[in-house]
Amino acid sequence: MKRNALSLITLAAVFGVAGAAHAQDAEAIARGEAAFSQCQSCHVVRDDAGTVLAGRNGRTGPNLFGVVGRVAGSYPDFRYGDGMVRAGEMGLVWDEASLIAYLQDPTDFLRSYTGNARARGNMSFRVRGADQASDLYAFLATFSPAAETPAEEAAAEEAPAPASN
Ligand code: HEC
Repeated sequence: MKRNALSLITLAAVFGVAGAAHAQDAEAIARGEAAFSQCQSCHVVRDDAGTVLAGRNGRTGPNLFGVVGRVAGSYPDFRYGDGMVRAGEMGLVWDEASLIAYLQDPTDFLRSYTGNARARGNMSFRVRGADQASDLYAFLATFSPAAETPAEEAAAEEAPAPASN
């Protein structure tokens, strides 16, 4: 009995916080979308059907559709540097913490992740500051179904499955 009451309170607290966090998320996503203008000379966000969701046709870097939750260095047919490939082999899956660190200093991040002080990152661009990197993470996460909120997931499940091919 006591335990149930406690978990109800916990639930209420969690949902209250989630509501406030949602508004902040929307702002971060909007800032991240604006910051993505720095990335689009090299990256595009193009879904599996070929629709461009962000950027234009950047090809120097890999397609960032679904990058959050993706194994590092695993976009098909993209020629990554050795450090990135190694990080993926070692189990790096892009999440909030790793992306925020990587975006601010790609080579330094890959060196410390792989433990190879000579590893080189092929991305010759750095984001200025953790805040901007965090906003970019929030924006990129909107293109990863796995990173969606439970409500969005439920809505997606109700929608008819897209035809494959
Ligand atoms: C000058 C070109 C260039 C710019 C600008 C650039 N990138 Fe990259 N990016 C690359 C390249 C090249 C790679 C592959 C790195 C490697 O193989 O080491 C990469 C890799 C990545 C990866 C890892 C993807 C994967 O499949 O593992 C992420 C995430 C990423 N970039 C995000 C960004 C974001 C966000 C921005 C804008 C703030 C940005 N990049 C700006 C060239 C660029």
